[in-house]
Amino acid sequence: MKSFQHRLLMTILAWLGILLAGLLLIIGQLFPIYAESENQMQLWIWLALIFALAMIFSAIIGYRIIKVQAMPIENVTETALELAKGNYQARAYEYSNIGTVELSSTINVLARNLQEITAVREMEQERLKTLIENMGSALIMIDRQGSVSLVNKSFMYEFELAEMDVNKKFYKEVPIPQVLQEFIERVFMMEKPAREQLAFTQGLSSRHIDVYGAPVIGEQEQWHGIVIVLHDITELKRLEQIRKDFVANVSHELRTPVTSIKGFSETLLDGAYKDPATCESFLEIIHKESNRLEMLIEDLLELSRVEQSGFKVDAHPTDMEAIIYQVREMVQKKLEDKGIELNLQLEPVIVQGDPNRLVQVMMNLLVNAMTYSPEQTVITIRLFSRGNEAIIEVEDQGIGIAKAEFSRLFERFYRVDRARSRNSGGTGLGLSIVKHLIEAHHGKVEVKSEVGKGSTFIIHLPLAS
Ligand SMILES: Nc1ncnc2c1ncn2[C@@H]1O[C@H](COP(=O)(O)OP(=O)(O)OP(=O)(O)O)[C@@H](O)[C@H]1O
Ligand SMILES: [Mg+2]
Repeated sequence: MKSFQHRLLMTILAWLGILLAGLLLIIGQLFPIYAESENQMQLWIWLALIFALAMIFSAIIGYRIIKVQAMPIENVTETALELAKGNYQARAYEYSNIGTVELSSTINVLARNLQEITAVREMEQERLKTLIENMGSALIMIDRQGSVSLVNKSFMYEFELAEMDVNKKFYKEVPIPQVLQEFIERVFMMEKPAREQLAFTQGLSSRHIDVYGAPVIGEQEQWHGIVIVLHDITELKRLEQIRKDFVANVSHELRTPVTSIKGFSETLLDGAYKDPATCESFLEIIHKESNRLEMLIEDLLELSRVEQSGFKVDAHPTDMEAIIYQVREMVQKKLEDKGIELNLQLEPVIVQGDPNRLVQVMMNLLVNAMTYSPEQTVITIRLFSRGNEAIIEVEDQGIGIAKAEFSRLFERFYRVDRARSRNSGGTGLGLSIVKHLIEAHHGKVEVKSEVGKGSTFIIHLPLAS
């Protein structure tokens, strides 16, 4: 802009110079100098001086006029240049007394609009980015050339990928399971939406994913590539398997006593009842099996009750020591029969609990300790408080449990040694019920054990406040 002013100024000066030279030439032509007197010479000098002064004044005035006129244009041009660079905060001065005010205000309106549009666009982009990153499902986008154009955090986390594994890589180069790669290829080649459940192994664990792929179609119906969305359904599959196992287990457990009852009763009806000894022994078996059936059904009903999502225990301050004495009474005969000594190391502790449910828990643990211990051993029950919780330990010198079994021990129907446990009349529901009851008390149950040496079940319960 400076050069524009200078050019204008120079032009004016040039014009004035030319004008002066022209005038001098005209005057010189009209009145030749050699013919003039000294007075005339002085007049010429004065005239030249006046012209020179007039020229300087015109230059100064011209410069000022140009400056005032050019400044708003200069300012608007600078603002427009800033806007072109992407600085939408730039604004032009709106000189009220100048004719360029409309230009400045229009530029400012344009700048404001641009700023608003950019802010809205940035906000939308940010929103979309946050949505993609936090959508909980893994997502990958592949462009029409087959290169990865977008992946979210979940995808990277799901397949333990680093930035360099995916950045601008051809989709076949990305280290993901073969089944997923084949699925992507199918969607990419067919350009049609597809949905599948895929299973694969990752490290030591097996994984299940529900995967959906679709082509990305632009506004003008052009194909931009494909998008793949994945949900991890490993946990759902695990629960489905547990449900299937449960149904299979229940049917199996029910069938065993029923088959037995049916078999023995049929034999009796076929004439065995005539021999009183056979009749009595068969009836005893039938009685034992029907007891087992009853116990199993009771346990199942109990488990379904405690597993209900809204299940609550009637917790109030309860003397835990008294509960343990009560349980000892209940198993006294069985202890004596097996020659097992019960060693009680109890401190007075008041817990926040439901007495009936706590008796049920202690019975289950104590019966297990007796069932899975040889004769003439010792079972120790310890009761004490630590911090704001009560600890109850039931320790036996029985067969013990391998560490590998710990995680499954509290599952429904899980038995370490199926044959042995069934012989002892167990259904494998006891510990599962214990776990649910203790959790309903906001406590937890743990196990420590060594095969051949014995097991300790440890219960943590909240103390009464
Ligand atoms: N004290 C223990 N010592 C060794 N093994 C144990 C002990 N307690 C439990 N177990 C193992 O854990 C399994 C599950 O125990 P749980 O009490 O749930 O079932 P159960 O005793 O077989 O049958 P029930 O439902 O009649 O109690 C048992 O079958 C047994 O293999
Ligand atoms: Mg048991």
